Amino acid sequence: MINVSKIKKGIVLDHIEAGEGYCLFKALKLDEVSDTVVLMQNISSTSKGKKDLIKIETDFQVDFTVLGLIAPHTTVNYIEDGERVKKFRMELPEEVHGIMKCKNPRCITNSEKVEDILFTLVNPDSKEYRCEYCDSLTKYEG
Ligand code: CTP
Ligand code: ZN
Repeated sequence: MINVSKIKKGIVLDHIEAGEGYCLFKALKLDEVSDTVVLMQNISSTSKGKKDLIKIETDFQVDFTVLGLIAPHTTVNYIEDGERVKKFRMELPEEVHGIMKCKNPRCITNSEKVEDILFTLVNPDSKEYRCEYCDSLTKYEG
């Protein structure tokens, strides 16, 4: 077994579905962070069989909005002085920037390069969002 030590200060993303850790790593743009980041894959979990986990040793605030969309079961733990001081899960976000693609083939965002498209939540049950360019609805599907 590979041991990754506990951290003094930072954030631990726990209970990530096995196989989704790398996807989250990219969605949170952790490759752009200059602090120490560890992605652990397929570690044994008492409740889930296997899980992924991400540790970020940082002072910075990370925007976890996207977690509510792509991995709502993830537990976000804030660590200070080696102790967990906060633990929460993200809710489905009202607005999503730059992570979704519009499903309408005639939408301008699919023929021209448009960065950071804004999608607004229309239906929380079906997870449908409205594209700011063409108003059509798109469901987030990974
Ligand atoms: N952790 C860490 N560094 C610390 C404290 C905790 O890396 N100084 C990690 C632990 O290894 C664990 C996660 O943060 O993966 C959550 O730790 P803990 O607060 O001990 O909660 P658990 O009881 O393990 O998890 P939960 O209550 O969420 O089921
Ligand atoms: Zn569109």
